[in-house]
Amino acid sequence: MEHEPNRNVLTRLIVFTMVTLFGQSANIAGCRIEELGVKVPSRQRIPDKYMTSSTRLNKNYQAFRGRIGIKRIGSLADAWCSSEADSAPYIQVYFEFLTKVKVIESEGVDVDGNNMWVRSYAVSTSNDSVGGWMYHGSSVAQLWANTDIHGTNVTLNDSWAHFIRIHPKQHIGKWTCMRIALYGCQNALPAVVFIFIVTAGFMCLFRRYRARRKAETKQSALAETNNGIKSIVIYEDPPPYESQTVSLHFGNDINLGREIPSEMPAFTESNKVIRNMLLPFKDDRT
Ligand SMILES: *[C@@H]1O[C@H](CO)[C@@H](O)[C@H](O)[C@H]1NC(C)=O
Ligand SMILES: *[C@@H]1O[C@H](CO)[C@@H](O)[C@H](O)[C@H]1NC(C)=O
Ligand SMILES: *[C@@H]1O[C@H](CO)[C@@H](O)[C@H](O)[C@H]1NC(C)=O
Repeated sequence: MEHEPNRNVLTRLIVFTMVTLFGQSANIAGCRIEELGVKVPSRQRIPDKYMTSSTRLNKNYQAFRGRIGIKRIGSLADAWCSSEADSAPYIQVYFEFLTKVKVIESEGVDVDGNNMWVRSYAVSTSNDSVGGWMYHGSSVAQLWANTDIHGTNVTLNDSWAHFIRIHPKQHIGKWTCMRIALYGCQNALPAVVFIFIVTAGFMCLFRRYRARRKAETKQSALAETNNGIKSIVIYEDPPPYESQTVSLHFGNDINLGREIPSEMPAFTESNKVIRNMLLPFKDDRT
């Protein structure tokens, strides 16, 4: 009886860790291809500020307008165009999570009746955007892309990175203009978050176990009082570090293993004491 809660906690911790680890490795090994949030509309969206470029034609043609599926809004254009003076243009996307881009989809654009598109481009990736740009093939390798303004896919075999740059090499039309969508997979759970979750999970289980033990002790003390045996139980507030974990709820898991019956006793003057003792952390129930 005394050892059961211990095993219970340990088992749950192990299961929790295994499930999390499995999810992690499945994500990396599987590389389930999805649109990464450049295209609109999409399941997710890369913030505008994460799309940048070497130059822009003017403020209506900024990098974040270069999303496939985007519509003109007022003077805001539906493509990214580089400045005419830019001899080495590029559009860059930053990913918060380590990302493997497998497919680049590109489109041209109709600017006031003139179709413009990018015939070829080079691709580079980096983790810090400052140095260490790794080119797909080489900096002069041209990946052949559009032959008209309609969508064309180019498949890559690059490694994981936080930044990707597409460097248009040849273009048709007056300006270098394009819209893009990126497909690939993301390592959505950075190591820091992973360690945090495991630690938090452990603290939650530990706290719950302590709370249960406390409630049990007090219940028996109360029973003794009711039997006429004088026994004073002084309720102690939990130490601050314990109540700090209260907000970390993991879905339905929070009620697993709770000794408290699902049907709460009615709140009356006579059972108030018991209720408070069963629920030492009242904010847990709200
Ligand atoms: C970025 O970092 C990851 C993980 O450390 C590494 O595998 C990858 O090769 C790096 N990418 C680049 C472009 O340096
Ligand atoms: C992509 O991978 C294939 C085989 O793994 C290799 O032959 C090819 O050179 C790679 N392409 C680039 C541009 O790195
Ligand atoms: C490009 O590839 C993506 C992902 O596989 C796909 O959803 C999209 O329809 C493709 N686009 C074109 C023009 O083939």
